[in-house]
Amino acid sequence: MTIKLKKQVIEILKILKEKGSECEASKLAAELSIDYIVLMSAINDLIEFDLGGFKEVEVNQISLNDEGRDYALNELPERQLLKILRKEKVKEIKVNDLLKKSNLEEKKYFIGLNNMKKNRWISRSKASGDDTIFLIAESYPKTKLEVFMGKLLKIKYLDFSNLSNDDKDLYDILNKRKLTEKKRRTQRILFLTNKGKKIDISKIEELKQVSKITSEMLSSGTWKDYNLKHFDVTKPGPLLKAGKIHPMVNLINEIREIFISLGFTEIRGPIIESAFFNFDALFQPQDHPAREMHDTFYLNNPKTAKLPEKERVKAVKETHENGGDSGSIGWGYEWDENIAKQTVLRTHTTSTTMRRLAQFYRNKDKTPVKVFCIDRVFRNEKLDKSHLAEFTQIEGIVIDENVNLSDLIGLLSEFYKKMGFEKIITRPGFFPYTEPSMEVSVYYDKLGEWLEMGGSGIFRPEVTYPWGIKNPTRVLAWGQGLERIAMLYYNRKDIRDLYINPIKWLRQQPY
Ligand code: PHE
Repeated sequence: MTIKLKKQVIEILKILKEKGSECEASKLAAELSIDYIVLMSAINDLIEFDLGGFKEVEVNQISLNDEGRDYALNELPERQLLKILRKEKVKEIKVNDLLKKSNLEEKKYFIGLNNMKKNRWISRSKASGDDTIFLIAESYPKTKLEVFMGKLLKIKYLDFSNLSNDDKDLYDILNKRKLTEKKRRTQRILFLTNKGKKIDISKIEELKQVSKITSEMLSSGTWKDYNLKHFDVTKPGPLLKAGKIHPMVNLINEIREIFISLGFTEIRGPIIESAFFNFDALFQPQDHPAREMHDTFYLNNPKTAKLPEKERVKAVKETHENGGDSGSIGWGYEWDENIAKQTVLRTHTTSTTMRRLAQFYRNKDKTPVKVFCIDRVFRNEKLDKSHLAEFTQIEGIVIDENVNLSDLIGLLSEFYKKMGFEKIITRPGFFPYTEPSMEVSVYYDKLGEWLEMGGSGIFRPEVTYPWGIKNPTRVLAWGQGLERIAMLYYNRKDIRDLYINPIKWLRQQPY
């Protein structure tokens, strides 16, 4: 059988034959100035005809670290100090005086001084009273260490097991001086089989193979003369580094689709919100601790917000003071309109939900109303691996007659199931605006733990009556944390990763 190989593969075979021994793939690629991938694909062609192959070995590669490289380029501290003495033709100097001249950090200065002594360039004596240095050598040729560093700088890395005993000693010195780096790498060693070693190159035919057909080949008909390269669909393609949609945006879109498939409509609301919609409309008393500065970002500009229709504000005021027509006795304090006018960065998207209730009243909407909102909220939190000061909530409500807690549990279970979380558990919770209130946790099998995802409940009459939503019409409501879901979904352990954008992780994300 005649062997047909591409021109480049024949070239590489020739080079391997000339070398006569095994060689390391990335070194050969560098030597020939060809791409590593091109070289390995040529080796694959050789493997196909049993002419060559490669084996993988693990090696410890040593190289200079940043500081080591800096010294290799700009001299070790001992050489820097020597240069000062020689330039100023000083044979004798006080230790402290040289320190001042040297511009070196004290620690590095003394390291330099010790090494000058080790190199037998200087002696040090306190005989005259002051700690003094004397230049004692005749000449100062490059030390073995300096030569070794120069070599490491030039060839970037060395295979530790190939070092001579002398070089190993030098490496030890550098290592003790913390100027090195060691990395485990897999190397590919290329070799020729006996068949490859024996084959007569002149007997190999050149394969005219193309991987692409051009329009010229088509119009001239020459495409028929070419051998078309077969694609091996089982091999991974090269890593593409093109732009793509951020995983968080992908996740948001997925959540959007789930709610839309359940018959919901998306709503949005302002980030700069009135305390009225963020707190008061939610029956949170004006001295509620959640309103305090440590939790809420209050704004100076704009300092006040507009309130909705006067009679609606009055309805909220009365609910706070005496329960209004909700059947409650209210909080029993004097409600202050000015506090409600304060502006805040919304602390939850429930404020946007409240705007939807106001719209419901204004438009005399018909039930059912099913809306959701996925948007940013802000809290004055200390950042750590599970807290952000700016995060995203997945909020939603259903306004309908006779809806109850089972409907709410069913809805949230359905949502999490569609997200891929099969098991959810609900526990009693507390929010000033829902009764009953529920916390939702999902089971995370990787950790074998229940993780809390957010709150939910049925809005209290004190929240819905001011907007004309009265028994048996009720509002089911929930607010879940998007980033919590994202951490589980994308298997990230630190919530901050989602926004500091670890590039390696982003590149691994699908398109
Ligand atoms: N607003 C609550 C939070 O930010 C979540 C929630 C929304 C709870 C709606 C009940 C009803 O934690």
